[in-house]
Amino acid sequence: MTLPFDMKFLDAGSLAELLELQNVIAANLPCPEVFILHDEEYLREVFCRDRSAIGVRIGEMLIAFSIIRIPGISAENLGRDISLPEEELTRLAHLQAAAVHPAYRGHGLQRKLTFAHLDVIEELGYEHACCTVSPKNPVSLGNYLSCGLAIEGLRQKRHGWWRFILHKDIPQANQLEIEQKRVAISDIAGQLDLLSKGFKGFRISPQCEGKQAQVFYAKFKSSF
Ligand SMILES: CC(C)(COP(=O)(O)OP(=O)(O)OC[C@H]1O[C@@H](n2cnc3c(N)ncnc32)[C@H](O)[C@@H]1OP(=O)(O)O)[C@@H](O)C(=O)NCCC(=O)NCCS
Repeated sequence: MTLPFDMKFLDAGSLAELLELQNVIAANLPCPEVFILHDEEYLREVFCRDRSAIGVRIGEMLIAFSIIRIPGISAENLGRDISLPEEELTRLAHLQAAAVHPAYRGHGLQRKLTFAHLDVIEELGYEHACCTVSPKNPVSLGNYLSCGLAIEGLRQKRHGWWRFILHKDIPQANQLEIEQKRVAISDIAGQLDLLSKGFKGFRISPQCEGKQAQVFYAKFKSSF
């Protein structure tokens, strides 16, 4: 069934409904680890920057959102986690958060919102996009990988929770795959080992009932 989704930039007038949507999402998480909520003060700052928030509505009701953030040279800049050169850090934008109301999942909204925000990031002149995803969140990981981001790091972030660090060069260079491996998404040690050897995660196996998702890693070389 195709629903009448309406995707638009949000402004500060949407703050209250964004907070309300976050609460619904929080109440339905399989575990709190997969999605860290943003508070009112943080969201107010997001709205100060044009096109930083995109929402999807059905009728009047906000049912999905994506926000981006420009981290500058702050300690939170995810470029630091993947050893981007210092001079690249100011050319980087974060895909900071995306979420869909539980009743409206399965329509590819995270992917649509992410592609829309990647276009904004490119139009604003940034050359890198980064985000984090929990290894306990295979759906979100699959969506970001299908938008062209790749796993380039795996770190313990807030509360000691593991996070993949995903990165995309804008525009994306052509890359030739030279060696491929796959590993269970929960195998933190195995993935840290592959990343330390220069592999990047680029695909996740389709979800099968009761089976661990597998993440595909490869070594690449640029081709022109
Ligand atoms: C991750 C998230 C944004 C994906 O929502 P979405 O864009 O609607 O997901 P998709 O359309 O790609 O759904 C793909 C499939 O996964 C299923 N799915 C989506 N989210 C799911 C979830 N949290 N748990 C289990 N299955 C889920 C969908 O029903 C769909 O199944 P189908 O193909 O059989 O219909 C959504 O699950 C969510 O808001 N989760 C909580 C917040 C969160 O984790 N945000 C991302 C943080 S990095």
